[in-house]
This record gives sequence, structure tokens and C-alpha cells, in this order.
Amino acid sequence: MASLAAGGVVIIGSKLIGGSWAMLFASGGFKVKHYDIEQEQIMNALENIRKELKRLEQADSLKGSLSAEQQPSLISGCSNITEAVEGAMHIQTLLPHQ
Ligand SMILES: NC(=O)c1ccc[n+]([C@@H]2O[C@H](COP(=O)([O-])OP(=O)(O)OC[C@H]3O[C@@H](n4cnc5c(N)ncnc54)[C@H](O)[C@@H]3O)[C@@H](O)[C@H]2O)c1
Repeated sequence: MASLAAGGVVIIGSKLIGGSWAMLFASGGFKVKHYDIEQEQIMNALENIRKELKRLEQADSLKGSLSAEQQPSLISGCSNITEAVEGAMHIQTLLPHQ
């Protein structure tokens, strides 16, 4: 379980792979900020994560000790990269290949 003093994780790129990493970090108790250049995609990602965590909990496959209600509360969206990375202890990019 993450220490509250540890600072947060920033995930850049919020589609399938970025969302999966966000869920993994939240399952360990880390605060996660999701950044994407598409504001709508961030909202979709947060909604998909909530649904997926519920589904995993119902299938008895949820990782970690926090519930499917608690884990999404650790994940927030941010559309400003400067704000997103402020105070971060880890930044992970999941961007399309150029
Ligand atoms: N989806 C898979 O099954 C899979 C498997 C293996 C590897 N990958 C790789 O993982 C990475 C992510 O794949 P994916 O399918 O989750 O997403 P994706 O590649 O379809 O989309 C990436 C997201 O990044 C956002 N984005 C693009 N440029 C950005 C920028 N400059 N700053 C912030 N956000 C930006 C886009 O708006 C989009 O939401 C890709 O490099 C992909 O090749 C994906």
C-alpha cells in the first residue's frame, strides 16, 4: 500500500494501456492523475475505469485491498500538463507511436 507522503503518479495518454496502468497504481493505493490532449478522452477514461473496477470486483478479481468504490477516487483527470506533473513522484507516458 502506497504511503500518502509518496506523491502521485501521472499517466500521460488515457486510452486502453494508460487506463490499465492507472488502475494498477490505484490498486496499490497511489494517487493517479490522468492527462491526455483530448479532454473528452480523459472523461471517457475515468468512466471506463469506474466500470471496469466494478466488473473486476464482481468477478472477485479486483487487485489490492481497496474496494471498487475507493480505487477510482484515487484517479483524477487533468487537462493541463503543468498542473498534472506538479509534485509527481512518477510520470509514465503511454502515447501512440510516431
Ligand atoms: N492497445 C494495445 O493493445 C497496445 C498493446 C501494446 C502496446 N500498445 C502501445 O501503447 C501505447 C498506448 O496505446 P493505447 O491503445 O492505450 O492508446 P492509443 O495509442 O490509441 O491512444 C493514446 C492516447 O494518447 C493521447 N495523446 C496523443 N498524443 C498525446 C500527447 N502529446 N499528450 C498527451 N496525450 C496524447 C491520445 O489522445 C490518446 O487518447 C501506444 O504506443 C501503443 O502502440 C498498445
